[in-house]
Amino acid sequence: MKGVILAGGTGSRLFPLTKVTNKHLLPVGKQPMLLHPIEKLREAGVEQILIVTGTEHMGDVVGLLGSGKDYNCHFTFKVQDEAGGIAQALALAENFAGGDKICVLLGDNIFEDSIVSDVEAFNAQEQGARVLLKEVHDPARYGVACVDGDRVTEIIEKPKDPPSSMAVTGIYFYDARVFEFIRGLKPSARGEYEITDVNNAYIEAGEMSFGHLQGWWTDAGTFPSFHLANRLIMEQEAAQEK
Ligand code: DAU
Repeated sequence: MKGVILAGGTGSRLFPLTKVTNKHLLPVGKQPMLLHPIEKLREAGVEQILIVTGTEHMGDVVGLLGSGKDYNCHFTFKVQDEAGGIAQALALAENFAGGDKICVLLGDNIFEDSIVSDVEAFNAQEQGARVLLKEVHDPARYGVACVDGDRVTEIIEKPKDPPSSMAVTGIYFYDARVFEFIRGLKPSARGEYEITDVNNAYIEAGEMSFGHLQGWWTDAGTFPSFHLANRLIMEQEAAQEK
């Protein structure tokens, strides 16, 4: 399996921290944010990793990561010209994926669990997609899953009246059909190509599996969640140093 980390976007909710740098270069604990999803992929044995980011700070991202030799992996970089949505950023991964299955991580998702068992579960899944869910107290901020027994029946992006407290985390697994589904998308009301529309296409095709994160999870895209991510990672680092 190959890995894709989406690290574009404007980071507008963290302005002015993001005035002169990319959100994913901001510190979370002792490292730039971007190194956390990279560690998760490396821990799961993923060696080929594509990083997608915008034009403004691509140079700094390449300067941080290099070829991948410091991380025992191989990085490929792709530029997203404008922040047109997560699915638009993912479309840039088609050649890199080359028909293989991919694990896609949003670069601002910081979490405790290892993804090793989900990589294994998705490798064993013949085709389709897989998402990871996490129960949250503020579901209206996320894509929210409607779950019926062992099936996800729908995902609603930032619902005013959330049907459940199950957030869809920014940890996704896709087969090669994902690029076909993305080509069929239209921009949403907020003018973005939405990953939730891609996931709903897989649900309609009856090809979506899901798992649950057991440990803590947060994004780091707002001031409260950025501070929470820092606190959780620093507690983890302190526990590891003991
Ligand atoms: O964090 C999980 C949530 O992420 C999901 O529950 C939602 O369904 C999903 O839409 C997304 O919601 P956000 O509104 O939090 O997404 P945001 O625009 O903050 O983008 C998240 C990451 O995706 C960001 O760190 C970088 C990447 N991204 C985003 C956009 C809009 C790109 O690479 N390019 C983009 O154009």
